[in-house]
Amino acid sequence: MGFAKVSGDLPGPKAAEIISAVKKNCYDSTFTYPLVIDGGLGCVIRDSDGNQFLDFTSNIGACPLGYGHHDVMHTLAGMAQNGAHKIAGQDFYCREHAELSEKFLSILPAGFRSFFINSGAEAVENAIKIAYRKRMSQGLPILPGVSCIGAFHGRTLGALSFTFSKPVQKAGFPELPVLRIKFCREDTDPDIDAIGKVLEKNKVAFIISEVIQGEGGYNVASRKFVQNLRMQADAHGVPLILDEVQSGMGRTGKWWAFEHYGVTPDIMSTAKALQVGATAFRADLDPGQQGVLSSTWGGGSRIDLAVGATMIDVIRRDRLLDNATSMGGRLKKGLQELVGKGGVFDVRGICLMVGIE
Ligand SMILES: Cc1ncc(COP(=O)(O)O)c(C=O)c1O
Repeated sequence: MGFAKVSGDLPGPKAAEIISAVKKNCYDSTFTYPLVIDGGLGCVIRDSDGNQFLDFTSNIGACPLGYGHHDVMHTLAGMAQNGAHKIAGQDFYCREHAELSEKFLSILPAGFRSFFINSGAEAVENAIKIAYRKRMSQGLPILPGVSCIGAFHGRTLGALSFTFSKPVQKAGFPELPVLRIKFCREDTDPDIDAIGKVLEKNKVAFIISEVIQGEGGYNVASRKFVQNLRMQADAHGVPLILDEVQSGMGRTGKWWAFEHYGVTPDIMSTAKALQVGATAFRADLDPGQQGVLSSTWGGGSRIDLAVGATMIDVIRRDRLLDNATSMGGRLKKGLQELVGKGGVFDVRGICLMVGIE
């Protein structure tokens, strides 16, 4: 498809028509750019007027192999022969569910189990439910969870309580009980062990955090901060949930960003590049009793499950973790040279999860 090219004003006439239909019929909530996606190839995305853009965001991490990737197209072509694309996947089984679960297991910490749902927010919801469930099964009351200032964990009501990146997202909605700590980017931050102080004074049900805040501004946690979360969670017998919805699946050069910190969570959430949402957890936290967790279609979007499995296969086969490390190093070095010139203030991130301020 070649390189980025734009002709005329944006949005072009076809894009403008589509945008105006969406605005007329729908709540126009989070659309930020007048980009109407039509197709793409490699890193280049094409709008409905034929303009081409270099997609620096990989569709916010959801498209790690780029567009029109041969293996993904092959998987999609295979699914095109199948009439039952969406099934009630929490009620009935399908092959794609089993295949993704095997591949997913191979990239999870040892001894983990998983549960597929639709989205990142639902992955967080279920992580929270698993943590609460553990306490309830011990006859303990509902206690607050601890989350970080600047965190983003999704916008469904439960997950929203632990999200804290933009005030507008909270908009007066009711909250689950929550205590907040500072997200520390430097080991020398005086609040580096805020979690220890919170847990000394309060009984809590879980700690939830990203290790690289995505929506919050590509803030990379300090090593000591994350290690303190792990240490204090262990000391107080509280499950640690790490949210890898945006940072997971290889863009940091490891399958999971927490691997850079030498810690393992008790429960984790992921989505985006996996195509479906997933909650993964230590086997002993499995709720056991049937029906405690469920979802609508996460285990039943057969196309998404199949593409998710292809993502894992290709990332492994083509050594894309190594690629993220080497290309990310090059990208960051080049971007860092721009700091202080032309309005670039800071460059943050790990490997190919990089933000420019
Ligand atoms: C860290 C994190 N958690 C949760 C979510 C919510 O995911 P979803 O939009 O799929 O519900 C996001 C979305 O950007 C995210 O970045």
